[in-house]
Amino acid sequence: MPVPPLEKKNSAAGCAPRDFRMTSFDWRIGNEVIPFYMGSDCAADVAQKLAAMNADRFFIVADEAIWKMHGAPYERAVGAVAPTAFMPYGGGEAGKTLAAIEQLAAKLIDSGISRRSVLVAMGGGVIGNITGLTASLLFRGIRFVQLPTTLLAMHDSVTSLKQGVNCNGGKNILGTFHAPSSVFIDLRFLSTLPAQQIRGGLIELVKNALILGGDYARQVTESLTAFRADPKSHDWAALVNLGLTAKRTLVQDDPRERGHAMILEYGHTIGHALELAYVGQLSHGEAIAWGMRCAAWISHRLGYMTDSALAVHDRYLALLDFPPKPNGPFKLGELRARLQRDNKRGYLPPGNEGMVAMILLNEPGVVLNGTNPYPLTLVPRDVVDEALDHLAREWQSHVATGLAPDEAGFAR
Ligand SMILES: NC(=O)c1ccc[n+]([C@@H]2O[C@H](COP(=O)([O-])OP(=O)(O)OC[C@H]3O[C@@H](n4cnc5c(N)ncnc54)[C@H](O)[C@@H]3O)[C@@H](O)[C@H]2O)c1
Repeated sequence: MPVPPLEKKNSAAGCAPRDFRMTSFDWRIGNEVIPFYMGSDCAADVAQKLAAMNADRFFIVADEAIWKMHGAPYERAVGAVAPTAFMPYGGGEAGKTLAAIEQLAAKLIDSGISRRSVLVAMGGGVIGNITGLTASLLFRGIRFVQLPTTLLAMHDSVTSLKQGVNCNGGKNILGTFHAPSSVFIDLRFLSTLPAQQIRGGLIELVKNALILGGDYARQVTESLTAFRADPKSHDWAALVNLGLTAKRTLVQDDPRERGHAMILEYGHTIGHALELAYVGQLSHGEAIAWGMRCAAWISHRLGYMTDSALAVHDRYLALLDFPPKPNGPFKLGELRARLQRDNKRGYLPPGNEGMVAMILLNEPGVVLNGTNPYPLTLVPRDVVDEALDHLAREWQSHVATGLAPDEAGFAR
């Protein structure tokens, strides 16, 4: 699939009185056109753009660690535009629930939020989801902007209208669609991002390569090979753009990700169950890597994927080494229970209750049922159980390198 270049607008247009150093482009998703900006060390530029929102207050939602590392220049620059307050959220993935939304909303109301206020999500995908969902519910919808701080958020979660939280053991079960007013990608944040989170963001690029194939897969392979060869001198903007390009290809005409864009969920059925079962141990991307491994095994087991296609699939996963397994035993029972709550269940036609709806590949670049309205394949539950048994064996025998991720080649 050819990869369309990102359209660049004249970033300096209308930005007097000072030079504007961020590049900008429009992100079209359905009927929404969201301005995206990218630069490095750009609190002043972000504040300049936020000034045009005519907000009565800004509330920056972040976790304490990010706020300590990166909050000060933003607090200063945005605070010069309108009163600005830090709203801490420290719950991580485990706390991504409706209770957290209610708590945050209550604090915002106590702090004087109005319909003219703007929420700023300064963090990874968790903060983005928490802030986006809160913004969509407060006064039935107020404005929010995304200031992503992880690689995954920069090229993946901020491009989506989906805002959601976990519920009763299921990932992203409660949610809405709500577009950010703009997205500001400050690459400076990546200077402090731990290696495990870098790996998580890069794994989503491998996923994109596996679902799109062709020229896109070649670009990902080249970029990641170069990254591995020389992790210290690489081009973050190029890596972020590579992720954005894949998302753009898929979501612009499927803004709710309920049709062909659903293929972005490759690896997510079992991956989401793993992410929640090993919260704090596996990053989102690492859980998806294990999920892709299982999806390929299932496709092979059902006869859709040949031996040689499976080998090619493995080679893609090997582009980044395989994530180390988390400590502790394999949580088979918990994973089975979590899979019962997968959020793709509603797509099953009646009479298929014993099946699990999954995105599967025939081979890298070829999605099974990829041209159907729903690119899903129904997998008998006992085959999913077999895949989990297989994963359990691989898990036990997986030879952890014994190296910290940095030493294993993910150093910045
Ligand atoms: N809305 C969507 O369409 C969408 C898409 C993909 C993922 N998601 C969601 O995103 C979440 C995963 O997001 P994530 O991978 O960004 O992880 P995350 O938000 O959990 O952040 C990971 C960790 O990195 C730390 N961190 C973040 N930025 C940092 C920085 N610059 N320096 C140092 N530490 C930093 C955070 O404090 C956190 O501990 C999941 O909940 C997933 O469901 C949503």
